[in-house]
Amino acid sequence: MNTIKVTGLKKYFRVYKRKEGLIPTINSLFHRKYSEVKAVDGISFSIREGELVGFIGPNGAGKTTTLKCLSGLLYHSSGIVEVLGYIPFERKADFLKKISLVMGQKNQLWWDLPAVESFRLNKEIYELSEDVYRKNLDELTGLLDVGSLINQPVRQLSLGQRMKMELIAALIHHPKVLFLDEPTIGLDIVMQKKMRDFIGNYNKKYKATILLTSHYMADVKELCRRVIIINKGKLIYDGSLESLSQKYSFHKIITVHFYSDAPENKLKNLGEIKLIEGSKAVLKVDKEKAKNVTVQLLEKNKVRDLTVEEPELEDIISFVFEGKSV
Ligand SMILES: Nc1ncnc2c1ncn2[C@@H]1O[C@H](COP(=O)(O)OP(=O)(O)OP(=O)(O)O)[C@@H](O)[C@H]1O
Ligand SMILES: [Mg+2]
Repeated sequence: MNTIKVTGLKKYFRVYKRKEGLIPTINSLFHRKYSEVKAVDGISFSIREGELVGFIGPNGAGKTTTLKCLSGLLYHSSGIVEVLGYIPFERKADFLKKISLVMGQKNQLWWDLPAVESFRLNKEIYELSEDVYRKNLDELTGLLDVGSLINQPVRQLSLGQRMKMELIAALIHHPKVLFLDEPTIGLDIVMQKKMRDFIGNYNKKYKATILLTSHYMADVKELCRRVIIINKGKLIYDGSLESLSQKYSFHKIITVHFYSDAPENKLKNLGEIKLIEGSKAVLKVDKEKAKNVTVQLLEKNKVRDLTVEEPELEDIISFVFEGKSV
């Protein structure tokens, strides 16, 4: 069964156009001019129970707007949105007990109070028994390794520590569906990795359905087999990360270590030289030619080491973001 089902979702915002100058300002009090921002412009997809899907796109693509529609914070302009069989915007208590939206850019905790106070409030909102609350809290604080930090005012915490608190607050009721909007933004590499591990574990342990946005491709690569890509409010790809990579890998990266200095003149004819540094050279070669070039390199030179790699996911994604549909 599909946990999330979105059909032809549109969300248009009406924005008021203000002109500079006194007369236009006065005029505009009587004749307001609006323009329409097509934040989400007719997207459809469905997500099955337990899937962890990457939801990616450049800035302003419509990701946050979509997640807000899915969690019922915004009412969509048209289309059908269903999550766990509910219509999100109705914000029924039963629905809210089963979902959570975490925004890396927004603080949802009380700033001046210890995070544990916000957790307690959520306990009341989600009507958790003392036992369940304790059990969930102990588990989450243990997994995220936050210990007594939950008793410290939130404003004193570092960004990474605060993000962990945000997650605890969002997961205290063990939601079945999780919308994560850039949960690792601004975190250092080690903390990003911890967050990723935690998200992956939560998905597996509770068979939670997760839709994750991130500008860090490492998050997507490590956690998601499937990605949905949107750009300018439209869906441009929905499928496995693997086939996306295959489809857009037009070249391979060959790194060679020679026994002596890299022979720049010879290499020029084989492909695009990305780097030459002493005995090391990195070449970008057309996918079809990669095998041939490798053979030539090995036959005609004294090669100490050679590796052939696919281009980085970042390169592939930025190519797709440039608007070329799949
Ligand atoms: N409340 C609003 N009123 C008017 N326009 C809005 C509103 N919220 C979002 N938009 C516009 O809708 C578009 C999509 O915004 P959205 O925040 O969904 O993008 P995003 O994909 O989350 O981008 P980012 O990666 O930068 O977070 C943008 O052009 C934005 O300016
Ligand atoms: Mg956003």
